[in-house]
Amino acid sequence: MRLDIITCLPKLLESPFSDSILKRAITKGLVEVNIHDLRDYSTTKHRTTDDYAFGGGAGMVMMIEPIDRCISQLQSARKYDEVIYMTPDGELLDQSISNGLSLKKNMILLCGHYKGVDERVREHFITREISIGDYVLSGGELAAAVLADSIIRLIPGVLSDETSALTDSFQDGLLAPPVYTRPAEYKGWLVPEVLLSGNQAKIDQWRIEKSVERTQKRRPDLLKNQSE
Ligand code: ADE
Repeated sequence: MRLDIITCLPKLLESPFSDSILKRAITKGLVEVNIHDLRDYSTTKHRTTDDYAFGGGAGMVMMIEPIDRCISQLQSARKYDEVIYMTPDGELLDQSISNGLSLKKNMILLCGHYKGVDERVREHFITREISIGDYVLSGGELAAAVLADSIIRLIPGVLSDETSALTDSFQDGLLAPPVYTRPAEYKGWLVPEVLLSGNQAKIDQWRIEKSVERTQKRRPDLLKNQSE
């Protein structure tokens, strides 16, 4: 997989890809992540990428020209499966969207800023618009990092225990069950007996029950979606 992330704040995207699982995925060659500074594609003396909104009103708008130049250059080198715009008015990210995107090859992620991009960018270049939640961030960079993380960890070989992504919360429409590690007793607080029993069938059954119980209590909406 190759991700090309377009941003006017490239520094914001350095650290998410230089540590832990994402760094290892890049080092292993399982994913290539390229960060593009939109200012490099500006045609103005001061390398501006935004301008005042036609019709007035507060807030600057990201200009179409630098975005066109950047996306067109990328698209002239290879074919992209998706050109995704990170925006609070996009479709709400969930596990099934990440699962689907993890099967794609090349994707461009465009990070919005200020009041957003000139609408013509959305009409002519963007194939998909994604929000990571019903709140407004200062820009799309953190949202792009969240999306990239949720996708990259699903690529086979990225997680050392390949089954572990399959047992994540949401993968089966349920929240994950509680987990424990040593010591079996701490300050008198005990690990559930069944987990120490060695009886795998019983342990599996307990985990399913706890998953359902936890989902019923915390996210009953997930169970409702399943029966629909
Ligand atoms: N940019 C600003 N807020 C955002 C959000 N919630 N999701 C995606 N991109 C954003």
